[in-house]
Amino acid sequence: DMMKDVSGLKDMEKQLKAVLGISNVIIVSGDSDQYPLVKNEMGLACIREMERYINAENIIAVTGGTTLAAVAEMMYPLKKSRDLLFVSGRGGLGEQVENQANTICAKMATKAEGRYRLLHVPDQLSEESYQTLIEEPSIHEVLHLIHSATIVVHGIGDARTMALRRGSRQSLLTKIETENAVAEAFGYFFDHCGKVIHKVKTIGLQLDNLYDDRTVIAVAGGKSKAKAIKAYFKEGPNSILVTDEGAAREVLKL
Ligand code: G3H
Repeated sequence: DMMKDVSGLKDMEKQLKAVLGISNVIIVSGDSDQYPLVKNEMGLACIREMERYINAENIIAVTGGTTLAAVAEMMYPLKKSRDLLFVSGRGGLGEQVENQANTICAKMATKAEGRYRLLHVPDQLSEESYQTLIEEPSIHEVLHLIHSATIVVHGIGDARTMALRRGSRQSLLTKIETENAVAEAFGYFFDHCGKVIHKVKTIGLQLDNLYDDRTVIAVAGGKSKAKAIKAYFKEGPNSILVTDEGAAREVLKL
């Protein structure tokens, strides 16, 4: 019964909002762990939220991952696209190119009929390279745009899955194990309490950037991400969460 389904999801959205302590939750039906097309539905729901928050001038910072790639995949020309500037929140992450923030940012901007600026740096940096690169005018400019973002759209991942996918060093895998990291988002690893246990030294979006006055949209679904979602929002910034039924049901069970 369709109507019953819809009201069931609406009900879960309310519950999840309360449990996670965030301003809005959108749940699409299905579980993206089982049906990858559910990611596209989350992508569409994310774009609808973006449209609601688009103002006269917009800088939209985006991160990487397969979920953000689905947002880019589903993107369409946005009404006020003339004033849209998409900026990549992350450098190259040791991910496949289609999952990298730069690729996603360019694709999203092109489909939305907006402009884009990319971050041409490796994501993991030594202290020395970090200091040198941060002085580069072209990089400085992109960083300024990231800090001025009016909307941030990012994914949340399971800590171990993300570390493995990015070919992280054994030391990080061990740390994830011993300190019980469960969530990952934009290079930060979080434990059950939402405490940061590791952070990749990176030029790009920082956790602090999400606490200022801006719209933050997190897109993450699938039953396997329930723990990560719950942990991330323990301390995480007030956000709009776009998720799926698989993740939502599991978070409410935890
Ligand atoms: O940064 C990437 C996200 O944390 C998760 O990636 O959307 O492929 O699961 P995903």
